[in-house]
Amino acid sequence: MFKLSKTQKQLQATASEFAKNELAPHAAEIDRSEQYPWDNVDLLTKQGYMGMTVPEEYGGPGMSYLDTVLVIEEIAKSCGVSARIVVEANMGAVGAVMKFGSKVQKKLAAEHVLSGDKPAICITEPGAGSAATEMFTRADRMGDRYIINGTKHWITGGGVSKFHLIFARVFENNESQGIAGFIALRGTKGLIIGTREPAMGLRGIPETQIIFEDLEIPQEMILIPPEGLRHGFAGLMNAYNGQRVGAGTVALGIAAGAYELALEYSKQREQFGRPICEFQGLQWILVDMHTQLEAARLLLQKAASRSRQGFPDMMEAAQAKIFASETAIKVTNDALQIFGSAGYSRNFPLERMVRDARMFTIGGGTAQILRTVVASALLDRKLPQTRDGHFKLEQKEKK
Ligand code: FAD
Ligand code: COA
Repeated sequence: MFKLSKTQKQLQATASEFAKNELAPHAAEIDRSEQYPWDNVDLLTKQGYMGMTVPEEYGGPGMSYLDTVLVIEEIAKSCGVSARIVVEANMGAVGAVMKFGSKVQKKLAAEHVLSGDKPAICITEPGAGSAATEMFTRADRMGDRYIINGTKHWITGGGVSKFHLIFARVFENNESQGIAGFIALRGTKGLIIGTREPAMGLRGIPETQIIFEDLEIPQEMILIPPEGLRHGFAGLMNAYNGQRVGAGTVALGIAAGAYELALEYSKQREQFGRPICEFQGLQWILVDMHTQLEAARLLLQKAASRSRQGFPDMMEAAQAKIFASETAIKVTNDALQIFGSAGYSRNFPLERMVRDARMFTIGGGTAQILRTVVASALLDRKLPQTRDGHFKLEQKEKK
């Protein structure tokens, strides 16, 4: 289907070496302390992994999504938290700004990520998770500025990210115009960091509430205006397909790392007078793990390498994330099983990897929601999930 070039293989090898030497030794401590790994961020920045996709005219190397996922997988094998940081410093918000932003906005985003900032994307709300189009956060237009009010939650990087991409429903004269994206920096009056979620895994990155209380955003910081009732949102989600491929790749990397550890352990650990890898019962588990990882990798790399309007295709990104996230849960659990009691012990990395892999069927669009996305593309029709279809939503927007 596609072949990695010599340069891409080199990129992969360099990232692997870097991650094993510089990141892996700190992964357990990051999990234990639940502190954001600023030292790793410095290393990732020096290594050029923050802002890899930033175009040359804005100071970055302008690398492709495929190049980026090659690096992300290698990092995730050693440290899932660092890999997530790299995803957000290259995809999601960065992709959206580089596609839709003004020169000023692009410069601002580039400066932030190239110096180590991991942007935050604020979509989800307590009352609007999967149903993101039902968000309540509102941006009231007041002449040449917008006033944002509302509450987001589960925002990755809350309190550590400086650059924020905020999704909000725009109102003009109290009439809904649809959903738009806004840029705001942490420290701006009215952007308030709320409580942190006590998360199961990937504990080195905070997920917090973010509250907007009369957050004032000048006209120049609207990234993508609402066009009609929904189309601003569609543009933002188009950019978000890149983030879904990135997130799927972190899941893949964590699972591939767990597989590599289990493969090695199965050769070392002896029972019944021989290495446990000599038992066919274990060999078949290892074979299935490897096969599933390879299939996930191909789906992700395919989605990353074929982009429409600069982003991975909606259906390919969704399929790749569904498969990679579900594979990661299975493969990390199988790896833990191969370690036996050592897998269950907090002295070994397997239990952390199982916890770290768990979130990817939830964050960034659940596996169920992504299946509706794929179904809609396969059937070539809208599949409104609201009880009364889009009619209800449009009525609500008109109010
Ligand atoms: P709900 O939408 O309440 O879903 C509950 C269950 O119902 C799920 O199993 C879901 O699949 C199912 N369900 C819902 N609707 C349907 C349907 N139509 N058909 C079938 N099943 C359905 N959000 C951000 O904006 N920014 C972030 O940075 C961010 N980071 C996150 C990091 C982590 C670790 C996690 C866990 C979440 C993060 N999120 C973030 C939020 C995430 O995107 C939401 O959790 C996700 O979209 C699901 O929303 P929900 O949790 O409200 O679940
Ligand atoms: N890529 C490109 N366009 C997308 C898209 C994607 N991934 N998801 C939605 N869109 C477009 C739709 O095509 C539609 O555009 P159109 O009106 O021009 O056809 C528009 O956005 C609205 O999407 P629709 O599916 O009609 O919205 P909905 O009200 O049924 O809501 C979603 C469904 C989009 C909210 C749901 O599929 C979803 O993705 N939920 C998860 C949200 C998420 O990922 N949160 C992560 C936060 S980190």
